[in-house]
Amino acid sequence: MSELAIRIENSTLMLGERLIWADLSLALKAGDFLAVIGPNGAGKTSLLKVLLGMRLASGIVEVLGRTPRRGDVRIGYVPQRGELDQDVPLRARDLVALGVDGTRWGFGRGGADTRRRVEEALTAVGARALADVAVGRLSGGEQQRLRIAQALVGDPRLLLCDEPLLSLDLHHQREVVDLLQGWSERTGGTVVFVTHDINPVLAFTDRVLAVAGGRWAQGTPDEVLTTAAMTELYGSQVDVLRVHGRVLVVAEAMEPLGDHHGHAHEPVVRPRP
Ligand SMILES: Nc1ncnc2c1ncn2[C@@H]1O[C@H](COP(=O)(O)OP(=O)(O)OP(=O)(O)O)[C@@H](O)[C@H]1O
Ligand SMILES: [Mg+2]
Repeated sequence: MSELAIRIENSTLMLGERLIWADLSLALKAGDFLAVIGPNGAGKTSLLKVLLGMRLASGIVEVLGRTPRRGDVRIGYVPQRGELDQDVPLRARDLVALGVDGTRWGFGRGGADTRRRVEEALTAVGARALADVAVGRLSGGEQQRLRIAQALVGDPRLLLCDEPLLSLDLHHQREVVDLLQGWSERTGGTVVFVTHDINPVLAFTDRVLAVAGGRWAQGTPDEVLTTAAMTELYGSQVDVLRVHGRVLVVAEAMEPLGDHHGHAHEPVVRPRP
């Protein structure tokens, strides 16, 4: 049995005709924090899907000691997505309860134990006061925290988070990051964290995986977040600057500051067309 939380060896992922990555190997120990970065469409979400059981073209993936399969309750997943519909007929506590026992359709699994775990998860994300509010009424950031509570309520050992900071202001970004780090420290849980801004998680990132244009680079932050490594990854000049403890990645063909929600953000790196 492998003691690794995640073991990927010589993996190649094709989606349709498209090569997403080739010959990727990656190992994470229990408790590690992996940040996954790269431009839109590079394959970040696809990596999470592979860890959840999507088939590779070739190579080996093991998650918590075995081949990924659907419905593994040891894995918590915070999907990448926008806001919930206005009229979703769920209160915050109902949404979180869907994560109990790893089933997203956990209606009727009430009981004192579920209620206690939901209560704890709501408290952990600072959303206890929202417990009885209809989720469609909550802000994007509040909903995001509930999705994290939903992923944590099943008591996973591995948490896959797809852009969990999206639509959060700086204060709530910090809260979510502290929450995930605290969870990992307390439980020894492993985190895979997709983000287009490495800075909020840089201080406790153990490994970085950068994907772009069918290529990848991985290692410690100091190994990957360098001008040399990023220039090689993108195949064009990319400068990595450290400014006041923050990492700025600057490419020649760079998008204006800000993400697709208009929030101030790090420059998004683009390969030269
Ligand atoms: N089933 C599929 N068949 C063919 N192509 C696919 C399939 N699923 C995803 N893709 C493509 O694979 C690429 C990688 O998608 P993925 O969602 O992993 O990107 P991403 O890095 O998460 O991007 P974003 O930052 O926009 O979320 C995209 O170009 C996407 O359109
Ligand atoms: Mg994605």
